[in-house]
Amino acid sequence: RSALLIDSFKRVHNYLRISLTERCNLRCQYCMPEKGVELSPSNHILNTNEILRLVRIFTEHGGINKIRLTGGEPTIRKDLVDIVHGIRSYPSMKTIGITTNGVLLHRLLKPLAQAGLNSLNISLDSLVAEKFEFLTRRAAFARVLTNIRLALDIPNLYPLVKINCVVMQGVNTDELIDFVELTRDQPNLAVRFIEYMPFSDNKWSNKKYFPYEEMLKIIKQKYDLEKLIQEDKNDTTKWYQVKDNAYSGKVGFITSMSEHFCSTCNRVRVTADGQLKVCLFDNKEVSLRDALRSGLSDEEIYSLIQRTLYKKEKEHLSVDILSTQENRPMILIGG
Ligand code: GTP
Ligand code: 5AD
Ligand code: SF4
Repeated sequence: RSALLIDSFKRVHNYLRISLTERCNLRCQYCMPEKGVELSPSNHILNTNEILRLVRIFTEHGGINKIRLTGGEPTIRKDLVDIVHGIRSYPSMKTIGITTNGVLLHRLLKPLAQAGLNSLNISLDSLVAEKFEFLTRRAAFARVLTNIRLALDIPNLYPLVKINCVVMQGVNTDELIDFVELTRDQPNLAVRFIEYMPFSDNKWSNKKYFPYEEMLKIIKQKYDLEKLIQEDKNDTTKWYQVKDNAYSGKVGFITSMSEHFCSTCNRVRVTADGQLKVCLFDNKEVSLRDALRSGLSDEEIYSLIQRTLYKKEKEHLSVDILSTQENRPMILIGG
């Protein structure tokens, strides 16, 4: 067995995010460029076996024990349940998660849990139907809300559901309190507010960027917030809870821009078209698809992964610089 996935800054990587598709059934403004994206030819998208082989290499050689399936929208992959089932068969795998927009969850919640999924993150940026539909450019609000309820009603299958809310000044900053209110009498819910990050053509602007400290100010006007201790050193979220027994859920903040967490980064990514991306904001990609399809052995592929990881930067650039740089649009990365 080879060494763990360690980079030149001695960060140990145990968390792999795999994007399953470049497609999505929504069109979120901060994720999908208005003009759409040029999709990869379909034979460039990794198939079930290629994904499972890659995960096996990452887990057996590199010690990856957490996988998150992303997209595009992972639930539109027909083989999603099979992929989860296959990943679950690797004995050292601990967490298998998906990050989804929730639109198709009703028919997947039980099959996914049975296949071995144990972490569910759902994106929801507004609690107002018209605003949701403006942001996502699709009419799916009622569906998503119903599906979040369905997930919250089966805590035996999903002990903690996380809602991801990307905060944009002037768009949903007036809803922070309503989102916190969701954590009332809901011990299996965590609401996370995410700082808006710039990607190519995603409408990011300094005016829409709304940092953590500002979010805290608004929420603290109404609630007494208690900061919780960080249990997992690699967690990207700063956790809080409203100091009132009625509020049994948690509130978190993902401060990617104002206080980045690069020094504890444990994450690597594979895009739907099989590119290894060692950082969300790094464009020095390497094709694992070509590696898989050129007959390389597991050891050779793992060695390519290790060498690529060694070039990972210490941290990402400042938000002002990032906002002027080319990167894949979010929909082609997976977050
Ligand atoms: P948990 O396993 O529940 O902690 O999920 P997660 O937060 O790792 O994943 P999720 O897909 O729910 O992502 C939530 C937000 O965190 C998204 O906006 C991601 O883009 C962002 N995020 C995840 N990993 C990174 C990272 O390495 N760097 C930065 N800057 N943001 C990240
Ligand atoms: N900034 C911050 N978070 C984003 N996400 C998508 N685009 C952005 C962005 N520009 C979030 C989605 C999803 C997660 C994978 O990433 O809302 O919850
Ligand atoms: Fe689709 Fe999610 Fe991107 Fe929205 S954020 S366009 S739901 S992948």
